[in-house]
Amino acid sequence: MADQNPDERLQTEFNRWANQGEGEKMAAHHLYITEKTIGLMNLRPGERVLDLGCGSGWATRLLARIVGEGPEGFGQVVGLDISDEMVRQARAASKDFDNVMYVCGSAQQIPWEENFFDKMLSVESFYYYPDQGRVLGELFRVMAPQGRMFILINLYKDNPYSLQWVDKLKVPVHVRSAAEYVELLKQHAFENVEWRQIPDDTPTPDDYQTKSFRSLDDLKAFKRTGALLLIASKPNLRVPAPGYRVY
Ligand SMILES: C[S@@+](CC[C@H](N)C(=O)[O-])C[C@H]1O[C@@H](n2cnc3c(N)ncnc32)[C@H](O)[C@@H]1O
Repeated sequence: MADQNPDERLQTEFNRWANQGEGEKMAAHHLYITEKTIGLMNLRPGERVLDLGCGSGWATRLLARIVGEGPEGFGQVVGLDISDEMVRQARAASKDFDNVMYVCGSAQQIPWEENFFDKMLSVESFYYYPDQGRVLGELFRVMAPQGRMFILINLYKDNPYSLQWVDKLKVPVHVRSAAEYVELLKQHAFENVEWRQIPDDTPTPDDYQTKSFRSLDDLKAFKRTGALLLIASKPNLRVPAPGYRVY
């Protein structure tokens, strides 16, 4: 891995996760907080949605069911992931959908056209992106004017229990606070930036085995504190203001 660039390292690591069946396991871990977030997205039939860091595509399919055919047209969901193995599994599980497309690529260079997506969801992926500012620049480019972004992050400073994972991960991650993320989004010209915490209210069985946390009590405290949800809008602009860095 030493001679790989940061994106290649992420691809290797998440291909390993995919081959170990982690794609589907993550669905079980992230479903509750994702459903709560989708409930806040005010999705409408006909909308175009990006699932950034889609993994095995379970959330992409949830989104696709909601925006499918409707009076305003045919809604479409694009799942993007750096891991070609995650994308392969996502495609295999989505054969029944005709409004879903998966692409393998980096969030730092989104292979899509300008001003396209009405909404963006990213579940547990954003803190892996080596250059988060560059990703926000790309999101500014591909989001439609007034498009809304919903970024769910389980690993962040304001949930101290989540910090137990940092040393266990085999790739570098960003550890920021909610306030630092809000500042980052504002620096990249997004507006109506807000954040909230989404607790995971699912029960934890007493015999649950955890490798990620020091104890079951820490896992329960982590779930009570909850994930960070960042919400932001692209301004009503098709091109950024002069001086804004476009990649
Ligand atoms: C923890 S998993 C979450 C996957 C999925 N959203 C879920 O909740 O099941 C993180 C995902 O982000 C993807 N990812 C990491 N870095 C990425 C990057 N730079 N560009 C695109 N995807 C990336 C990984 O391949 C992985 O599938």
